[in-house]
Amino acid sequence: MDIAVIGYGFRGKVLSDIMLKLNDKVRISAIADPRRREIAEQLGERAAGIRFYDTEDELLAQEKPDGIIIGTRCSSHTSIALKVLARKIPCILEKPVSTTLPDLLALKEAYESSGTVVAVPFALRLNPLGLAAKEIADSGKLGTIEHVQAVNNVHYGSVYFQNWYRDERETGGMFLQKATHDFDLIQYILNLKPTWVSAMKSKQIFKGDKPAGLICERCDEQLTCPESAVLHKQKGEPVHGNQCCFAVDTGNEDSGSALIEYENGMHASYSHNFFARNHAATRKFRFLGYKGTMEFDYHTNRLQVFMHHSKRVETYEIPYGNDTHGGGDIAVCQSLLDTISKGLPARTRMEDALLSALLCIKARQAAETRVYEQVAWPS
Ligand SMILES: NC(=O)c1ccc[n+]([C@@H]2O[C@H](COP(=O)([O-])OP(=O)(O)OC[C@H]3O[C@@H](n4cnc5c(N)ncnc54)[C@H](O)[C@@H]3O)[C@@H](O)[C@H]2O)c1
Repeated sequence: MDIAVIGYGFRGKVLSDIMLKLNDKVRISAIADPRRREIAEQLGERAAGIRFYDTEDELLAQEKPDGIIIGTRCSSHTSIALKVLARKIPCILEKPVSTTLPDLLALKEAYESSGTVVAVPFALRLNPLGLAAKEIADSGKLGTIEHVQAVNNVHYGSVYFQNWYRDERETGGMFLQKATHDFDLIQYILNLKPTWVSAMKSKQIFKGDKPAGLICERCDEQLTCPESAVLHKQKGEPVHGNQCCFAVDTGNEDSGSALIEYENGMHASYSHNFFARNHAATRKFRFLGYKGTMEFDYHTNRLQVFMHHSKRVETYEIPYGNDTHGGGDIAVCQSLLDTISKGLPARTRMEDALLSALLCIKARQAAETRVYEQVAWPS
């Protein structure tokens, strides 16, 4: 099976390495990336047999792969996906599938008319914890889910203020960047469509008057600033970028919340934060039915069910999967391979990714206009 990769950065490499491990018939046959020379050098002997291109247009004009991984940065996902869909090649398309409403509508139309299978790496629903939560919700043990409470405090939030993600024209803001996963998981477990959203977002911490373009190594606070890449390196801590998060050109909100109503009238509250650190990290979901509450956290991989009409508490310790996304990346790669070899549908359907992106765009809009937004496709 020939797999081509468009955008061989962090994600393109992670996903294609998994593909190679999953099936010995997989071959990375082509890579399109403006960093092609650097990538070929990094791959060393592994680059032999891979044809390299600067752009997706050149790759698509020359190659006929069985499947494609689109791992470029956010704002180019739709334009590249449109070209891949036109050639009817099954693919993995990174999230967010679009960053603007016009892009999203164009993608939806192209996807529906193409009939091509697209899988989106929504690891939360694909990994063992998400699957266990779905199984319990579907068992009826909690009753019908009538309320959802979800919180994501992102301990590695400096990513979104210190490297390329800090450009909100690239990411589309933090609902699209982060909440698209959580909104998808909630939709998946409820099996309901969102209908209305209200939202707020704030930028309280990662803003300031440092000059645009400043990097930690050139800053006179490099040995005192808690976000300094220089200090983190000295202490052997993870470094997520060296651009100043207190500069005038730092984009993205640093917290956001949404209230979402679903088609049966129940609602979810969701809140995410990007300056919580260390043990404050949590990605917790609570699904409440009349009979019981299910609570789980992706940081502990523990799921508990609290029955409402008895004092019974069930605790599940779910093993982590074998990749950096708890097993979700392996599942999305297997999904593409199953589509290619057996004609199976995607395990994370594009329909769901489109709806999640629509909800994120409407949440962003609601936060900006301060009015409730209807979550519906234009007729
Ligand atoms: N599903 C997940 O859980 C998850 C996790 C992290 C990131 N992501 C998403 O993955 C995407 C990529 O993130 P990343 O961290 O790998 O970024 P990255 O910068 O490491 O990689 C992007 C690559 O695309 C290349 N590129 C840019 N324009 C291109 C073009 N027109 N054609 C071909 N290649 C091009 C860049 O040179 C780079 O190598 C982002 O949209 C991000 O939101 C998803």
